[in-house]
Amino acid sequence: MKLYKYEKNLELFKRALKVIPTGIYGHLGPVEGCYIPTSAYPFYSERAKGSYFWDVDGNRFIDYMCAYGPNVLGYNDDVVDNAVKEQLKLGNCTTAPSTKMIEFAELMVDTVEMADWAFFAKNGGDVTSFALMVAKAATGRKKTILVKGGYHGVAPWTQKLGCPGIVEEDIANNIYVNWNNYEEVEKIVKDNPDEIACFMATPYHHPVFQDNELPQKDYWQKIRKLCTDNGIVLAIDDVRCGFRLDMAGSDHYFGFKADLMCFCKALGNGWNFSTLCGTDALRDAASSVMYTGSYWLSAAPFAAGIACINKLKEINGPKLMQEKGKKLTDGLVEIGKKYGFDLKVSGIPSMWYMRITNDDSLTLHQEWIAECVRRGAFFAAHHNLFINCSLSNEDIKLTHEIAEEAFKVVKSNHPEIK
Ligand SMILES: Cc1ncc(COP(=O)(O)O)c(C=O)c1O
Repeated sequence: MKLYKYEKNLELFKRALKVIPTGIYGHLGPVEGCYIPTSAYPFYSERAKGSYFWDVDGNRFIDYMCAYGPNVLGYNDDVVDNAVKEQLKLGNCTTAPSTKMIEFAELMVDTVEMADWAFFAKNGGDVTSFALMVAKAATGRKKTILVKGGYHGVAPWTQKLGCPGIVEEDIANNIYVNWNNYEEVEKIVKDNPDEIACFMATPYHHPVFQDNELPQKDYWQKIRKLCTDNGIVLAIDDVRCGFRLDMAGSDHYFGFKADLMCFCKALGNGWNFSTLCGTDALRDAASSVMYTGSYWLSAAPFAAGIACINKLKEINGPKLMQEKGKKLTDGLVEIGKKYGFDLKVSGIPSMWYMRITNDDSLTLHQEWIAECVRRGAFFAAHHNLFINCSLSNEDIKLTHEIAEEAFKVVKSNHPEIK
């Protein structure tokens, strides 16, 4: 197998560094320290289609990061992109919003079990912040319970003290708990009577650099009851796994009903917008909060969202992605075993996390991932991976071949592995 070279990628990155802080900022760039060794990774893509993207050196990758989630049907899906083109002929960002917004809200209310209404913004972090504002407006309280290691965006309240730009006041009203520990939440609620506005968490725990964890039996049912009994708003951040588990919402999948649900990544197959869904009880609070943005009511993403969600329902996207994910990961585990590697898979098959457990430092895992990327299977070593609906059996087969060669290379570099 040919090893990829990244000459143009590097040239462009040097050019970018002169005019853009860190060249590529945030989690898509090398500065976060997540793409190590950086020499194994491309920096810029030129085009994308289906389950692939091509970088500026012409290398093709089977993409298991899916733009960190938005690629859910396959890049440049014709049904979605044609709906966008039709809408663009009519208009996009206009003074009075298009009726596509109503159509999309109706579709969300029909699709998501808990939803009585839907509110729109641009990014996942816009709606997690809005969810907290709604909860505070509804309860007149100021504290929020959050799970340690959970990610809800980059607004100051979501970050940690010690991170540049964050001051104590930004996070003064956050109380952090461990995932799946009901008793800890119960104690906090008891110790802070009439002070907790909101409990916010992802539907299952998908932190970085750690095995992902599903909720224990009855965890959500007990949390739901605790919130109801104490007037606390239960907000579920379904930004990442929304529609990769259940079209009716991940709370529905785990058998409980949230008060607020945040969606983003899988809504429009890459066309940018986010949604907060809520129940009737919170409609007035949502109406009372002043919250908007220059592009939030643009029509083209709503057209994309209507086409994307209808197609996901038509093909039963979540089931399809679970099946593809299972086939892929079962194969990876088997191949790893042949060469003495214990590859542990956690989370859900459509959005799995994996790590080689032979070494706790994750160095072997990082090496194996880098060898995969250099041969055309784009994984990240630190983060959960994503399946999209267009991934084919041939893609899975090729990924298994790449993974096998990568395991062989790592094994030959580490004779201690038996
Ligand atoms: C669970 C979760 N919540 C919130 C966000 C923030 O979304 P965005 O980056 O679109 O603001 C993300 C993004 O990765 C996420 O995974």
